Amino acid sequence: MKITLKQNSNIQNVDFNNLKFGAIFSDHMLICKYKNGRWVEAEIMPYQPLPMYPGTQALHYGQSVFEGMKAFKTDDGKVLTFRAEDNFKRLNTSAKRLCIPEIPKEIFMEGLHEILRLDAVWVKAGDNFSLYVRPFIFASGQCIKATISDEYTFMIICSPATTYYQGEMHVKIEQEYTRAAKGGTGSIKAAGNYAASFYPTKLAREQGFSQIIWTDAKNHEFLEEAGTMNIWIRIDDALITPNLDDTILGGYTRDSIVQLAKDMDMKVEERAVSVSELHQAHQQGRLKEAFGTGTAVSILFIGSITLGTNKMILSKQEDSFAKRLKDRLVAIQHGKYEDKHGWTTEVLSSLTPQ
Ligand SMILES: Cc1ncc(COP(=O)(O)O)c(C=O)c1O
Repeated sequence: MKITLKQNSNIQNVDFNNLKFGAIFSDHMLICKYKNGRWVEAEIMPYQPLPMYPGTQALHYGQSVFEGMKAFKTDDGKVLTFRAEDNFKRLNTSAKRLCIPEIPKEIFMEGLHEILRLDAVWVKAGDNFSLYVRPFIFASGQCIKATISDEYTFMIICSPATTYYQGEMHVKIEQEYTRAAKGGTGSIKAAGNYAASFYPTKLAREQGFSQIIWTDAKNHEFLEEAGTMNIWIRIDDALITPNLDDTILGGYTRDSIVQLAKDMDMKVEERAVSVSELHQAHQQGRLKEAFGTGTAVSILFIGSITLGTNKMILSKQEDSFAKRLKDRLVAIQHGKYEDKHGWTTEVLSSLTPQ
């Protein structure tokens, strides 16, 4: 792998106590091109603009997929990835659905580890800090006919993140717009899914909500996701999250929480949850908690859920399941609690001896 190092790091210009999520980038980026039917050697270089023609296909037809994952620092200075192999697999599942050639595992993993080694100072120690890692692939051929590209670019860029103050979400159950329909692309990370969610989310924000709870496309009857997070509720002592199908993105935070909840002897149900079940549980005082899970936030608490004109307020729980799960997850990610499931991997460069 060709590596060109950045001469002067930007890190001293970054205020880590006031990080805007996703707006600051680490010093290096990885780039790898697909041409003439194969992925060619990856290269790491200083983070910089990309030369690009206006006819670049991804710009016109959205043939573009991405991943979101994080690296964490342990108290003794090791950098850990979390479920990186799962993110690699999901990127290729997304790629396949959009006719993008799959990225070989060595390119993804060696590239990821090398960039994290080079930008290790950007992974700050402390439970609130992480380095958000964004692998993505886009159609970089040039043609404005609506057709499959024959050239692609795979990249990894990184952005320092903090969860210093997250607060809680006040969400609205969306019953007009739809995120995903059966047979569509809801279960993959296609760039266009997110573009289509911006307008309904903007309307909800204008009405004072922080996020939307998406419901099924057919009757808007079943809960699907909370914005770009998987949704969870607790009725009595049962944690419930919608079962996965092709309208829901199978989050790895969701999957980790399912496992951790079982480890902690909590009752977990992966099944359909209807809006009326939610409403009834609230009226009966049995709706104890609700939260979203995703890489960016880990777990984000929901303070209220609005259905039409009915605002269901969730009062703070003494023994919050979400809080206990979040603490356990964050501890594993930062190497402070035994990683029984082999989710974390220490970053060691496969190319350059330490
Ligand atoms: C639509 C959607 N749902 C759920 C998630 C949570 O997935 P993960 O936990 O793998 O970050 C994400 C984020 O990737 C997402 O974009």
